[in-house]
This record gives sequence, structure tokens and C-alpha cells, in this order.
Amino acid sequence: MNIACVGGGPAGLYFALLMKQRHPEHRILVAERNQPFDTFGWGVVFSDATLQAMRQWDPKTAREIEDAFNHWDDIELVLKGRRIRTTGHGFVGIGRKKMLNILQQRCLDLGVELMFDREVKGAEDFPDADLIVASDGVNSRLRAQYQAVFKPDILMRPNRYIWLGTDKAFDAFTFDFRRTQHGWFQAHIYRFDQTRSTFIVETTEEVFQAHGLGEMDQDQSVAFCEALFEEALDGHRLLTNARHLRGSSWLNFGRLICEQWSHFNGKSHVVLMGDSAHTAHFAIGSGTKLAIDDAIGLTRQFDIAGHDAAKIPEALEGYAAERRIDVARIQNAARNAMEWFEVVGRRYADTLEPEQFMYSMLTRSQRLSHENLRLRDPVWLSDYERWFAERAGAEPLANGAAPPPMFTPFKARGLTLHNRVVVSPMAMYSAVDGAPTDFHLVHLGARAMGGAALVFPEMICVSPDARITPGCAGLWNDEQSAGWRRIVDFVHRETPAKIGLQLGHAGRKGATRVAWEGIDEPVEQGGWPLISASPIPYLPHSVPPREMTREDMDLVLEAFVAATRRGAEIGFDILELHAAHGYLLSSFLSPLTNHRTDAYGGGHENRARFPLEVFCAMRAAWPQARPMSVRLSVTDWSEGGNTPEDAAIFADQFKAAGADLIDCSSGQVVCDDHPVYGRLYQTPFSDKIRNEIGVSTIAVGAISEADHVNSIIAAGRADLCAVARPHLADPSFVLHEAARIGIDAVAWPRQYASAKAQYQSNLARAGPVTSKGAP
Ligand SMILES: Cc1cc2nc3c(=O)[nH]c(=O)nc-3n(C[C@H](O)[C@H](O)[C@H](O)COP(=O)(O)OP(=O)(O)OC[C@H]3O[C@@H](n4cnc5c(N)ncnc54)[C@H](O)[C@@H]3O)c2cc1C
Ligand SMILES: Cc1cc2nc3c(=O)[nH]c(=O)nc-3n(C[C@H](O)[C@H](O)[C@H](O)COP(=O)(O)O)c2cc1C
Repeated sequence: MNIACVGGGPAGLYFALLMKQRHPEHRILVAERNQPFDTFGWGVVFSDATLQAMRQWDPKTAREIEDAFNHWDDIELVLKGRRIRTTGHGFVGIGRKKMLNILQQRCLDLGVELMFDREVKGAEDFPDADLIVASDGVNSRLRAQYQAVFKPDILMRPNRYIWLGTDKAFDAFTFDFRRTQHGWFQAHIYRFDQTRSTFIVETTEEVFQAHGLGEMDQDQSVAFCEALFEEALDGHRLLTNARHLRGSSWLNFGRLICEQWSHFNGKSHVVLMGDSAHTAHFAIGSGTKLAIDDAIGLTRQFDIAGHDAAKIPEALEGYAAERRIDVARIQNAARNAMEWFEVVGRRYADTLEPEQFMYSMLTRSQRLSHENLRLRDPVWLSDYERWFAERAGAEPLANGAAPPPMFTPFKARGLTLHNRVVVSPMAMYSAVDGAPTDFHLVHLGARAMGGAALVFPEMICVSPDARITPGCAGLWNDEQSAGWRRIVDFVHRETPAKIGLQLGHAGRKGATRVAWEGIDEPVEQGGWPLISASPIPYLPHSVPPREMTREDMDLVLEAFVAATRRGAEIGFDILELHAAHGYLLSSFLSPLTNHRTDAYGGGHENRARFPLEVFCAMRAAWPQARPMSVRLSVTDWSEGGNTPEDAAIFADQFKAAGADLIDCSSGQVVCDDHPVYGRLYQTPFSDKIRNEIGVSTIAVGAISEADHVNSIIAAGRADLCAVARPHLADPSFVLHEAARIGIDAVAWPRQYASAKAQYQSNLARAGPVTSKGAP
């Protein structure tokens, strides 16, 4: 094959050498606009896994790169006059120049043609090539040439960064945070040879502008950074080698994804590789890894399909299919990590203590969990567990160690929960005329005995026409009160758990069938008239609701207050107002479902007016010593709907009105929403609300093991974790998870005590368990 690689960065050089080494008969050239020793950037970091792959594919280059690597294990945080260090993280760093020189030399040794100082104009420069590899970086000219085919999507991120070097050799991957009068700057610092380190300085656009950095030239910017990080630099200088960049040389990162990765232009196949195909933010330092993995990926596809020009389409198809998955995974983790650095100034740096800040930073991508940290640095983690437990007022375990965050108590007003797990409210559609039955006693009783600190029954409806389905539970008459009292008394008498009351009104989502007969489908008989903020049906064929009048609002408000009084008298421990999922109060909050032109529609204040009226009236009727929470859909997952920014405004209003907790759910507001599911997928919403608004939160959604709960609570992303479906699968979820992570201190119901030791020893025999899912 005749192969032209445009761009001699890691992607182009490594692909060229791998292909040539496997099939010397290929004619391969690499055209690079720069001189061999003339390259931007300082050092890059790699994980051990990338190196392992390189060893397998070309041991010679891997060995040389390894010899030039600087290996280190420590991460150090510098914040507010404190230095905190953890170990066991395993990084390797190498100068970008050094690495490229090794790859260039290996290319030459193998017979790859290297053309330097060669600016490629487009694919027409290589009319005889069977394959043109667009390894020409993030601003790829070849990608631009076939833009209509590749369909690149570039999302420019708000932060500014400048990529500098320093002649000080830092001995740990150092994150140094400095506050100025305008806000926070952070430096990401890592050593790449015996004497030098990469030094990337990052800040928000507002802080960048406030300091006038946009008007400064490079020397002034460097002088600014030297003054700001004087203490870290310890007399050393910051260096720039990006003189080719015009202007201030502070950049914005652009996240790139491409719909297509290859194209046949009638003569040659053109394929994107490395930064021209995708970018991953430097917050997780994986751009070079992705470039290397792409080169390996395409080579592997040629090995499978055959190293023959006729097989190019097949190889390219396999390459895109294989690489897309890995790239999406890395980009996802990079996005979480990048966003953490974008919000760190306004969310964590001022409020979190350095210990918890460190934990939050280490777990920023949500890929590294509590148990992963324990494996990396058990000493630091157990110190942190002790720090956390002391602040939470937890007793030490029998062996003197601190309990992990999941098993620390939580207090709100007069309520103390003995751990951080909540059975999330789940509609069971098994009530009779709104009254709970034996099913509810057994169902809720079992879960209260199963170890969760707080058990919520399903959404309990405040009036007959507030129900979602005819099988939904209610609290508007004495028979229902008696039924709930039996359950609440059981939970209090027989278990250490507390029991909550979630009150709600279905609004336009009412009069539907029980779940197993068709979720959200209107009942055929026995329905009732529906009300909502605006007269918009939920499904196109749902019964249209009537727009609520002020009289309707008064009646609904009275019903909420009456149910609150009943709940207080029965002895529920906490009251939650359901203002999520498109039900009545949620329909006021969302602009998609609230089209009113009166005082209850329009801006945030108006949309929240009625839900807040209800909340305040309930708060007044609910005992002061007992806490209240509000469940919100933090995003509608729909164009034009509420976003986390809107939800933060509402959360702030509920907090001011006396809410103790915000329960951070999402979606289900409109039938055509587009939720993005995944492990802990709603936890970032809880993180935002908790740390930007300064209110306690409940995280919920795909939290399915102790490791998740520990990671969320320890990082301060939530105060409580609500676990729904895993509790349907296993009523004793908490007891079983405690046993799985080796926490003996959690008591089982005395009637079941004889099973505990056997359960624990069976688990111990199965071997050490950390996280159920690979992080
Ligand atoms: C601040 C910062 C820090 C980073 N830190 C890390 C890190 O720690 N670890 C990590 O793995 N990655 C890091 N990266 C990312 C990493 O540098 C890239 O992801 C990686 O270099 C991509 O390799 P590539 O071969 O695809 O592209 P590049 O390395 O960009 O190479 C493209 C090459 O093509 C050449 N070229 C472009 N156009 C033409 C043309 N028309 N004709 C001829 N030649 C052309 C360029 O001169 C260049 O040499 C960082 C990036 C930034 C911005
Ligand atoms: C069967 C079922 C019924 C639910 N009913 C309610 C409800 O009544 N009130 C509520 O706020 N959320 C309800 N939810 C949502 C859950 O409380 C929870 O937010 C959601 O299932 C995500 O958590 P998970 O991933 O742990 O299941 C229900 C979920 C399920 C699976």
C-alpha cells in the first residue's frame, strides 16, 4: 500500500512505524510542517496501561520511551496554605519532544519516509496514495477539506488555559490553587524529565477578563503566572515555547467529536486519527494515549482484514467501530474531570476543607471510586475516613477504625439517620381506595429491616383526584391514616430506620393505568378530571387537563396541608414535597408545561410561586423539629425545558423557605425527553445543587453499591443516597452491601442474627470484593 500520514505527531508517526514494521513493502511517508526538533508543548503523561499496549505492538519503541520516562506515584494538592499528598497513582511523564524524536528515529530505522518542513495543502498533495491518514492534529486541514462528510462537532469550553513549562522538577503531580481578588486559578504541574515540568495554568473566562489577561502579550502573561505561583516555583522561571501562537496564547479547549472517521475521495481513502478525530481534555491527560491507541487500532484492523489496498474499506470500518467506543468512554471521563475544573472556583475551592477538596478532586471523573482509592493509598484513605467520620459525629468501629462514609450518621433538625442510605419512593400501585394494605406493611417493613436508615413509601397523594392511578396510595381519610400508622409504628418499633412521607399530586399525569397495564396510559373507565398549570396533555392521546384557577390552587393547597397534618400526627419522621417528574407542582416549574400568562407563569419567580406557596403552608403545619425535603427534576432533558441552572434557582428558593434537603432527580416532565443514563447519572446534579446553593441534598439514580455511596458521600456530592430499584431486587441491600465491604458493625434484625456470620463468611470465601462494576 501507498500510505501518506499528514502530520508527524504521536498518531501519524506511531501508525507509520507500526505498519512499516509489520509490512516493510508498504510505501509510507509522514509529512510534517515543522522541523524535526521543533515542536510545541512540554511533557505528556501516560498511564501504565498505554505503555503495556506499546510494549506488545513495538517493544523497541516502548523500551526507549520507558527509559526516557519519569515515573511517579504521588499527587499533591496545594490549597489555602495546606499541602496534602496521596500516593499509588502511577503516572509516567515524558517530554513531547523526546517522545517524538524516539518515534521519528524508529520510523527512519524502519524505512518510513519523513518529510519535514512540508506544509500539506490537502489530499490532492498525494494523488497516488491508497490511504491518507489525517493525523494533522486538532485543527486538521484534511478534516476541514471533507467537513461535510466528517461532520465535526466542536464544543468550545469556557475556561482559559496557558501551556507553559518550568525548569523546576516537581516530584509529584501537583495541583496548585491560588485565589486572587477576582477568583481562582489552578496550575496542573507534572515533571517530564530530570529538570523540567509541564505547568498548565487555568482559570475561568470571568477571572481571565477581570485580570486583563486578554490584553497581555505572552511575556506579560508568563510574568503574571510567575508572580501568582511564586511560592510553588520557588525561584524558578516559567517558560513558553508557543511563540508561534499569536496574541495572548491563552487558549480555550475545544471538545471534538466527528460523525464519520473516513472518506473515499475517488482516488484515496482519507482517515482521521488522533486529535483530528477527537479530543480529550488535559484534565485527564489522555490525548496522546488516544492517538497511540488509534494507531494501534487501525494497524490491528489491517492485520485482521489483510494488508492490501483492496481491504482498506473493511479495515477502516472496523477501526471506527472499535475505536469509537473507547474514545467515547475516555471523552466521558474527561468531560467530568474538565467540568470539575470549570466549576472548582465557584463550587468547591472556597467552601470545602482541603481534605474533602482533595477527595473531590481525585474522584472528579467519577471513574475512580472509594475502593479504588483504598487500593492506591490505604493509609491516606483511612485517615480521610477518620476525618470524615469525626465531622459526622460517628462512633469508631469495634476495631477502632472509622466507619466508611456510608455508615456515618446524618442529622437534619431533630432527625438523626444512622447511615446515608434512603429507600427512594416507589409507586407500588397496590393501594385500595388510597389505603395501604398488608402488601405495604410487608414491603416497607422488609426494607426498613434491611438496613436503610430512611424508608420512603411511594408518593402519597393528597386527594382522590391527585392519584396517578386507581392503585396509588393516599392520605385524605381516617382509614388511610390508620393504615399508615400501622406501618409507621412497625418501622419505629421493630427497626432502627426512620420513615418519610412523600406527598404529591399527579396533575396532568393522573387517571392512568397501573404500571403493569401500561405506564402513563389513560384509564379506560373510572377516570377523573385532570388539572395542571396549563391545559397540555402529557401524551398526545392523554386526557387534556384543565388550567388551574386560583380556586383550584386553594383546594390543592388545603389538601396538601391536611395530609401534612395527618402525617405529622401519625409520626412520619420527614416530609418530602414531590415537585418533580411532571406531576402537578413540577408542571408549574417547567416552562415546557407552564404556559400561563398570570402571576404563576413566566420567569422563575412566577413559575415557583404556587409550589412555594404549597411548601410554605406545609412547612407551617409540619413540626419545626422535623425536616422537609423537596424532590425536583433538576433537568427536563428536553430542549427549552429546565436545566440544572434553573433548578439551582428553585432549590435556592425552597432552601430560603425552609427546605432542609433537595432530592435531586430528573426528567419525566415531558414524554419526549432524552435522558442520558449511566452509573450515578444524576449525581452531578446533586453535586451542583449542594455545593453551589449550600443546601443538603439526596442523590438518586443508578446508585447500586456501597462503593458508589461511599464515593458520593465522601466527596460531598450529596448528604444522602436514595436507592430505588436495587431495593426492589434486595430488601436487605444495605445489610448485604455492608457485609460485602467487610463492615461487621451493622446490626441485623435480632431475629435474623444467626444468618449474619454465615453470610459474611460465604462472602469472605468468595475472595476480596471491592467494586462490583469495573470503574
Ligand atoms: C495543554 C495541553 C496539555 C496536554 N497534556 C497532555 C498529556 O499530559 N497527556 C497526553 O496524553 N496528551 C496531552 N495533551 C494532548 C496531546 O498533546 C494531543 O492529544 C496529542 O498530541 C495528539 O496527537 P496527534 O498526533 O493526533 O496530534 P498532534 O500531536 O497535534 O500532531 C499533529 C501534527 O500535525 C502537524 N500538522 C498539522 N497540520 C499540518 C499540515 N497541514 N501539514 C503538515 N503537518 C501538519 C503539526 O505540526 C503536528 O506536529 C495535551 C494537550 C494540551 C493542549
Ligand atoms: C417502580 C418505581 C416507582 C417509582 N415511583 C416513584 C414515586 O412514587 N415517587 C418518586 O419520587 N419517584 C418514584 N420513582 C423514582 C425512584 O424514586 C428513583 O428516583 C428512580 O428509580 C432512580 O433510582 P434507581 O436508579 O435507584 O432506581 C419510582 C421508580 C420506580 C422504579
